[in-house]
Amino acid sequence: MSAVASAPKGLEGVVAAETEMSFIDGQKGILEYVGIPIGELSSNSTFEETVFLLWNKRLPKQNELDEFTQNLRKRYELPKGMEQRVTSLPKTAEPMHVLRTLVSSLAMYDSDPNANDVDAAQDKALNILGHAPTIVAYFDRHRRGLDLVHPDTSLSFAENFLYMLNGEKPTETMARAFDICMILHADHGLNNSTFTTRVIISTLSDVYSAITGAIGSLRGPLHGGANEGVMKMLNEIPTVDDAEAYIMGKIQRKDKIMGFGHRVYKTKDPRATDLQSLAKKLAEDTGNQELYAKSHIIEQVMERELGAKGIYPNVDFYSATTYHCIGLKLDLFTPMFALSRIGGWAGHMLEQLADNRLYRPKAQYVGAHDQPYVAMSDR
Ligand code: SDX
Repeated sequence: MSAVASAPKGLEGVVAAETEMSFIDGQKGILEYVGIPIGELSSNSTFEETVFLLWNKRLPKQNELDEFTQNLRKRYELPKGMEQRVTSLPKTAEPMHVLRTLVSSLAMYDSDPNANDVDAAQDKALNILGHAPTIVAYFDRHRRGLDLVHPDTSLSFAENFLYMLNGEKPTETMARAFDICMILHADHGLNNSTFTTRVIISTLSDVYSAITGAIGSLRGPLHGGANEGVMKMLNEIPTVDDAEAYIMGKIQRKDKIMGFGHRVYKTKDPRATDLQSLAKKLAEDTGNQELYAKSHIIEQVMERELGAKGIYPNVDFYSATTYHCIGLKLDLFTPMFALSRIGGWAGHMLEQLADNRLYRPKAQYVGAHDQPYVAMSDR
C-alpha cells in the first residue's frame, strides 16, 4: 500500500483552518486581532470591545458596544441551583478542574443546550463568558471559607471579577491591568485549545462540550498551564542574586523553562513585551520589585544562552508577575487565561460553524499485518 504523505508531528506548520481573527508573524513577532496590532488594542480597547471585534470582525459603534456589554452583564450571575454546585465542591479541588466541570454543567441549566446555529452558539458563548468569572470567584471564596460576593452588573468584566474575588471594588489601576491581561490573552490563531474547540464543534456537538474540551487542553503545562510554572520557578529562586545561577542550572540540565519558547514565535512574543511593561509598573506599585528583577535577569540569560535557537519569552512569562501583583493566587493564573480565551475559542467556533467540515485526519498505520489469533492456551 503506498505510504500516504504524513503531516509533521504535532501538525507543526500545517494550516488546518482559515480565520479572520488573529494574524501572527512568528519571525517578526507580530500579532494582530482582525488586522489591528495587539499593542493598539491593549493601549486603547477593553476586553468587552475586543470580544465584539473578534466575533464580528469589526469594532462596534457605541450603541452596539453598550448593547453587547449589557447582554454580557445579564449573564454574570449563575443560573439558579449552580451556586450550590460550587459550594458543594471539595475545597481542595484544582480551580481549572472546577472551571472545566462547572462550565460543562452549565448545559444542564440551558433550555436548549444543543442548538448550534450561529445565533444560538453566540448566545451560549456569552453565557459561558459571563458565568465563568463567577464560577472561579465563587469557588475561591468557598475554599477560603468566605461568603460569596454576588456580581455587580454596574461593573465591567475586569472590575466585576476582582470585586467578586476580593469582596471590594478594585482600584482603577488594578482593574485596567486585569482588563489589559484579558485583551492580550483573548485569541492566538490555532493554538492547541482553540484547535480543540474547532475539532469538537466540527462534529456539530454543543457549545458547552467544545469549550469544556478547550479548558481541558489549556490546563496543560505546555500550553496555558505554563504561567503557573513560571511563578513556581520564580518562587524557587531565593534572591535576585541567585537568578542567573538558577536558570543556568536549568539550561545545563536541558530543562524546559516555563514561559519561554513557542511553536510559532521565534522572537519575543509581542504580548510578552506588553505584559513586561505591566509587570514592571505593578511590581513597583506593589513592592514586588524582586520578582520583576528575577524575571528580567532570567530573560537576559535565556536570550544569551538560547536566543540563537529562537527561544524567547512567550505570553506566560510576564503574565505570572502581573497576576501575582494583581493579588491572584498561583493556581488562579491558568483560569485567568481561560476566562479571556473563552472569547477566542467562541470566535473560532462561530467561524467553524459558518463554514464547517468535520475534522478527520488520517493515522499512518505502522504496525504488523496478517497476524494469527493465538488461543489463550497457546500464549
Ligand atoms: C502558550 O500556540 C500558541 O499560540 C500558544 C499560546 C496561546 O496564546 O495560545 O501562545 C500560549 O501556550 C505559550 C507556550 C506556553 N508553554 C510554555 O512556556 C512551556 C515551555 N515551552 C516549551 O515547552 C515549548 O517552547 C513549546 C511547547 C511552547 C513549543 O515547543 P515546540 O514548538 O514543540 O518546540 P520543541 O519542544 O520541539 O523545542 C525545539 C527545541 C528543543 O531543543 P532541541 O531538542 O532541538 O535541542 O527548543 C528547545 C527544545 O528543547 N526548547 C526549549 C524550550 N522550548 C523549546 N528549551 C528550554 N526551554 C524551553 N522553554
